[in-house]
Amino acid sequence: MAPPSLFSKGTGTVPGLLLLAFASLALLIVLVFPSLTPSTTTTTGTCSCPTTAPISTTVEDVSWLKSQLLLNRLGDPPSTPEAWASARKGINPRTRQQQLNDLRKFKGISHYEEDEESHDHNNHTALLCPGELLVEEHHSNYGEPWAGGRDVFEFLANAAMLGPSDLVLEIGCGTLRVGLHFIRYLNTARYHCMERDELSMMAALRYEIPYNGLLSKRPLIIKGEDMNFDTHFAGVESYDLIYASAVFLHMPDTLVWVGLERLTPRLKTGKGRILVSHNIKFCSRLGSVECSRRLKGLGLEYVGKHTHDSLLFNHYEIWFEFKKP
Ligand SMILES: C[S@@+](CC[C@H](N)C(=O)[O-])C[C@H]1O[C@@H](n2cnc3c(N)ncnc32)[C@H](O)[C@@H]1O
Repeated sequence: MAPPSLFSKGTGTVPGLLLLAFASLALLIVLVFPSLTPSTTTTTGTCSCPTTAPISTTVEDVSWLKSQLLLNRLGDPPSTPEAWASARKGINPRTRQQQLNDLRKFKGISHYEEDEESHDHNNHTALLCPGELLVEEHHSNYGEPWAGGRDVFEFLANAAMLGPSDLVLEIGCGTLRVGLHFIRYLNTARYHCMERDELSMMAALRYEIPYNGLLSKRPLIIKGEDMNFDTHFAGVESYDLIYASAVFLHMPDTLVWVGLERLTPRLKTGKGRILVSHNIKFCSRLGSVECSRRLKGLGLEYVGKHTHDSLLFNHYEIWFEFKKP
């Protein structure tokens, strides 16, 4: 199905010549005043390349993918571990653990012989990454499939009606399962995060950001666990979206309230949204009257509860939305 067009209604009544004249004029304007063209495209040489990928997966995207599976006669996937194992036809197929052992033992197929301890390898490898991260063990850190990070991004970006120039703060971004998608979508330096776990931060900074080609996006990821945003997040403008994906349920209620108290003044009035996943027991445990009173005291309004489905596995997630009216 073609995307909706400005001329989708009543084109039959527009005389062909008039339409042609209009199209020529539009082309002339674009050629003479390139700065008037939409900011979602950039012209490099002869390529007019989109700079912003769409947020949502469309029905057409799903159909296209299914057509590619059909085209290549890729039927149902193997249904047992044995069938998966026998279907693995790669050269020297390995589990993550085997791959890590091999990396430690053989250091890859071709490698420089200098003593690793001497740091001579720095001459060849600008960002030497530990083997544990290279084999992506951290993709299994949270039990849920890594792919769920994309679902969360799509849901949140749509819920907050996010644009690339908006400013986003994630509380507890972990290994960037979700954050990566925001960093990719947002303009440079528009993604911030406070995370307490050192190993997760190592995976985020030493592997995910360089591996995903996102170094130029300069995300601000700061180690911290006390919900104190004064030092490293001082002077930043108001956030369009603040979210906590699978985080507040693991925190003491008092810390969540401290966080909300400090974050509400940093949330954009009207447009800004705070979204919290799984449950809001920090509030509901107080009883509905007290919960509403505390939120109101902070200047927050509960907007509602949402669910969103996963694209790749049978799963849905629950989110609670707040705004500063
Ligand atoms: C279940 S993981 C979720 C990670 C990520 N949000 C995601 O959806 O993939 C919870 C994360 O919250 C972090 N966390 C827990 N308490 C925190 C605190 N007080 N301040 C900052 N991060 C915290 C943990 O270290 C962990 O990385």
